[in-house]
Order: sequence, then structure tokens, then C-alpha cells
Amino acid sequence: MGKIKVYSLGIAGILAIGSYLSANPPAAGPAQKNFDAQCSSCHGKDGKGKAAMAKVFKVEPAALDLADEETLKKSEGDLVKIILGGKNKMPAFKGKMSDKDAADILTYARSLKKESK
Ligand code: HEC
Repeated sequence: MGKIKVYSLGIAGILAIGSYLSANPPAAGPAQKNFDAQCSSCHGKDGKGKAAMAKVFKVEPAALDLADEETLKKSEGDLVKIILGGKNKMPAFKGKMSDKDAADILTYARSLKKESK
């Protein structure tokens, strides 16, 4: 009997882990949440940039577009540096997020380009 008990506990454990994982998809969820919370006020939820914010910052709307060709041409390393270190009116996020968070958010922002096509 003892063996059967352990066995059924094992199955329950696996099922519990399985439903935990499917309820918490890894990369996409947190990166999207972080982007919406910390970046979309200037860059828009679609990553294309807010025209009104471009006016406030006196920059070309394209400067806020994270899905434009100029931005997509830049390497992930360079863009992560901009996110963490800032650039002109772009605030620095160093200390507010890890390098990995910044890279995940960037991957998410770049994926928006494909979705909007
Ligand atoms: C307060 C407004 C504001 C917020 C919030 C903001 N940005 Fe920016 N961001 C800017 C501005 C303005 C620029 C353009 C800087 C320039 O080129 O002069 C910029 C530029 C960038 C660039 C460089 C694009 C390029 O082609 O060089 C990246 C990448 C970027 N932002 C990512 C992010 C991410 C990721 C977040 C959230 C973690 C974020 N930004 C939050 C205002 C903001």
C-alpha cells in the first residue's frame, strides 16, 4: 500500500507543476507587463511611439518608434545599453531592472513589429 500512496502523490505533484507552468508562461508575460508599465507611456503599447510624447520631447516621432528600421538595425547589445543608460530624453533604467529584464523587454518590443504587420 505504501508504494501506491507515494506513486499517486507523485502524479499529483506532476499535475500541479504542469498547471502552474501553463498558467505562468515564461518570457512573454512579464516582459509585456514591464513594457506596458514602464515604456508604453512614451513608446506606446504597440512600440511605435506616441506622437504627443514626441512633441513634448521635441523629437521626430520615429525616434520613439521601436519598430522602425533604424532601431531594428541596431544590435540588441547597443539597445540594451540605451535602455539601461538612457539617451537624451530617454530615461535610464539602470537600477530599476536587470540587464536580462531589459533584454527581455527589448525582445518583446521587437516582436511587436511582426505582430503589427
Ligand atoms: C519618458 C519617456 C520614455 C520612457 C518611459 C521610455 N523611453 Fe525609450 N526613448 C524615449 C525617447 C525620447 C527616445 C529617443 C532618444 C533620442 O534618440 O534622442 C527613446 C529611445 C529609446 C530607444 C532607442 C531607439 C533607437 O533607435 O536608438 C530604445 C531601445 C528605447 N527607448 C527603449 C525603451 C524601453 C525598453 C523603455 C521601458 C523600459 C523605454 N524606452 C521607456 C523616451 C522614453
